[in-house]
Amino acid sequence: LRVLHVCSEIFPLLKTGGLADVTAALPPELEKDGCEVRMLVPGFPEFKNGILDPHLVAELPSKFGARQVRLMYGKMPGTGVPVYYIDAPDLYDRPGNPYNDRNGQPYHDNHLRFALLGWCAARLVEGFDYFWKPDIVHGHDWHAGLAFAYIKAMEWNTGQRTTGTVFTVHNMAYQGNFPAYVFSELDLPFSMLNADGIEFYGQVSFLKSGFYYADKVTTVSPTYAQEIRDGEQSCGLGGVVQQRSSDLVGILNGVDSRVWDPRTDKRIDANYHVRSMTGKKKCRLALQKEMGLVAQTDKPVFCVVSRFAAQKGLHLVVEGLNVIVERGGQAVIMGNGERWLEEAFMNFARHFPDQVAVRIGYDEDRAHRIFAGSDVILVPSRYEPCGLVQMYGSLYGALPLVHRVGGLADTVIDSSLENLGENRATGFCFGHFDYPAYESALLRAFALYEKQADWRKVRKKGMNLSFGWEHSAKRYAALYRQVKVGP
Ligand code: ADP
Ligand code: GLC
Repeated sequence: LRVLHVCSEIFPLLKTGGLADVTAALPPELEKDGCEVRMLVPGFPEFKNGILDPHLVAELPSKFGARQVRLMYGKMPGTGVPVYYIDAPDLYDRPGNPYNDRNGQPYHDNHLRFALLGWCAARLVEGFDYFWKPDIVHGHDWHAGLAFAYIKAMEWNTGQRTTGTVFTVHNMAYQGNFPAYVFSELDLPFSMLNADGIEFYGQVSFLKSGFYYADKVTTVSPTYAQEIRDGEQSCGLGGVVQQRSSDLVGILNGVDSRVWDPRTDKRIDANYHVRSMTGKKKCRLALQKEMGLVAQTDKPVFCVVSRFAAQKGLHLVVEGLNVIVERGGQAVIMGNGERWLEEAFMNFARHFPDQVAVRIGYDEDRAHRIFAGSDVILVPSRYEPCGLVQMYGSLYGALPLVHRVGGLADTVIDSSLENLGENRATGFCFGHFDYPAYESALLRAFALYEKQADWRKVRKKGMNLSFGWEHSAKRYAALYRQVKVGP
């Protein structure tokens, strides 16, 4: 089964969030299930410079404002997964963030940049690479959304269906909506600019294109799938979600154990294992030292590793820092994004330098050291399609403290008395998205930390969880078989 994944990020070459972790880990796992996977990405500098053994597959006529478009083929470093990238310097050769300019504003031509991605996917279906044609196209997020419209348009033209399609939504809130007047630049049949199509409240929506035209739609956890069906998290797309409800499934993300395993992780100060935890103590001391915190061991170290976006509910963390400080705990916070959050966290760090440390920015290696050196990871997201950091926390022995939504609800079991009694608990969950609920979870974490025997039991349970990709990869492979065209 030949599967083409269409996306805009792949770890370790280009990553702005969990999407890149998923697109790096899922393909190798699918290969074990008998899929032959290739990827298609825009030729951002990180891909052009990082993909191994590139060679030319096809030269395309100038398209979507790019004077030169060349489809290249090479391999991902590390996994060796084959990748096509679209070399179109006019559209993609921009340093920094793949979506936004230096001022954090979306590029004015994003509709064209990502139309080209989708359009190239359709050309591959059509046979642009003489040697390889996908049976399945699997696109991720709005960046790949238009692929499904181009494939559908091609089917209308030829009267033939040659490929099955799957669209995965990693976050309903990022929709790729553009003013309707750009539609004429997209080279799609006019009838698609319709409520039964890609039109969304007078705009063109790339996310809706995927939702509407793909054979199957998936999202990244069962609970989030339910939340978007119930309308709570449908972000205005409730209509098309209802229409596609019987083709919508939630498949939980996994963890890439080649990257995230405290037994083998080379980025942390000492390796450790659920039955031999001295390494974690070393990691904790090393983290305290690195961050300039006092080296204490009798109170928990809390951490945040996150984008500072409204989704992540970090105002609750700001409000609760007093409680952590008053009780003698410590907090290590890393991330960037909303200015006021950066400033609020830094302000605390200035006032309590022994107890609160903040690093504004993005640092992959440090993220590993923070998970390894902390006792609790705070993930109070307002909503969370899946969330990976709470799983990384669990496996590294940092108990997740989470708002019970989306994938957080599917991956963390609260330390209630019943759950403790039955040895099921792995962390702390709060139900209402408000400060009192968050604070009471924080206080429960402090209380459990005082009962070290119980704490260790919960930590052990979390570290032993299996978040492997095998199970989810099998579910994707089964979906591919359902939508595959022909024998
Ligand atoms: P989202 O994709 O919504 O940001 P996830 O929890 O799914 O949330 O994935 C976030 C990914 O980005 C994780 O791999 C996490 O370790 C990483 N990450 C987030 N912020 C930072 C940061 N400041 N530095 C390094 N890694 C980060
Ligand atoms: C999105 C979501 C996050 C999810 C990730 C990978 O970024 O916000 O919850 O874990 O995609 O699927």
